Amino acid sequence: MTLPDNDNLRKEFDSDLENSIDLLSIEELRIKYLGRKGIIASLMESMKDLPDNEKPVFGKSVNELKKYFNTNYESALKKANSEKQSDSSPDFDNTLPGVEISLGKKHPLTQVWEEMLDIFTRMGFEVARGPEVETEYYNFTALNFPENHPARDMQDTLYITDDTMLRTHTSPVQIRTMLSTTPPVRVIVPGRVYRNEAISARSYCVFNQIEGLYIDKGISLADLKGTLISFAKQLLGSNVKTRFRASYFPFTEPSAEMDVSCIICEGKGCRVCKHTGWLELLGSGMVDPNVLRNVGYDPEVYSGFAWGLGIERTTMMRYGIKDIRYFYDGDLRFLEQF
Ligand code: DAH
Repeated sequence: MTLPDNDNLRKEFDSDLENSIDLLSIEELRIKYLGRKGIIASLMESMKDLPDNEKPVFGKSVNELKKYFNTNYESALKKANSEKQSDSSPDFDNTLPGVEISLGKKHPLTQVWEEMLDIFTRMGFEVARGPEVETEYYNFTALNFPENHPARDMQDTLYITDDTMLRTHTSPVQIRTMLSTTPPVRVIVPGRVYRNEAISARSYCVFNQIEGLYIDKGISLADLKGTLISFAKQLLGSNVKTRFRASYFPFTEPSAEMDVSCIICEGKGCRVCKHTGWLELLGSGMVDPNVLRNVGYDPEVYSGFAWGLGIERTTMMRYGIKDIRYFYDGDLRFLEQF
């Protein structure tokens, strides 16, 4: 006696049913098992070749299978329809675009500072920090600014009391670091500094500096130049040219400002470099023996160099930014470009 292979057909159907999760795949299920040319139809078709006495039993078996397919198909269809309905209910519109989660970015000043930090830490420098409210002693006196000397007016100081102020530069952290450690000293100091300046495209009352200090036995001007030239090339590209110009700072002797070839015009001359081909990057010098004495280091034994630069200025140079105030406005149209 020939009978349809109900067990296996049911298994096949069950596994197809499991994958029928939407209206389209449920329709495909119906076509395969219950359609005009489907499995049930072809079983019925094959019945006509059976001997008459076998037909009733075979037919009954096909009917059982058909009922099984039908019931399961219909309940799957019902379920999918009701899900579709709840998807399209008034408080859920599945055609609306998703809510975009926007990631924040690091502020351009933070990005440039982190790059500088990277360069100097690879050279063996560590980060030191100091307070933004300073005493006159750390901000000026210990740095060899003579009492009542006009050099103190080089930086328009915001005083809090007669002898406390918002620091005008990060150099006082040189003093604090040397007082609390013994040489060798190799630090970089990031931080906010304050000056009572008229706000304009080029200057702001608060900005950020990075100070550097290297003290050890036998440190010379050659170390200063080697370190700072290497820094400039890592920051601005190996093609950048550098030059040192003699300058004056009370806490260094000799002092020099370092220029780099204009990164906008590559030294040819443009508006950014005022047609000189050069941009001032930093101030530097060999630490004055008086400063070493003020922190109890013997200048006969130890020597070293220091430098300072403005992070805003450097960032403006690098990207050709024309107005320092963009950094503090919080305007996303500016910030998103970095
Ligand atoms: N403190 C100086 C300023 O704010 C910058 C500077 C110049 C720092 C020379 C230094 C240095 O350490 O050696 O203008």
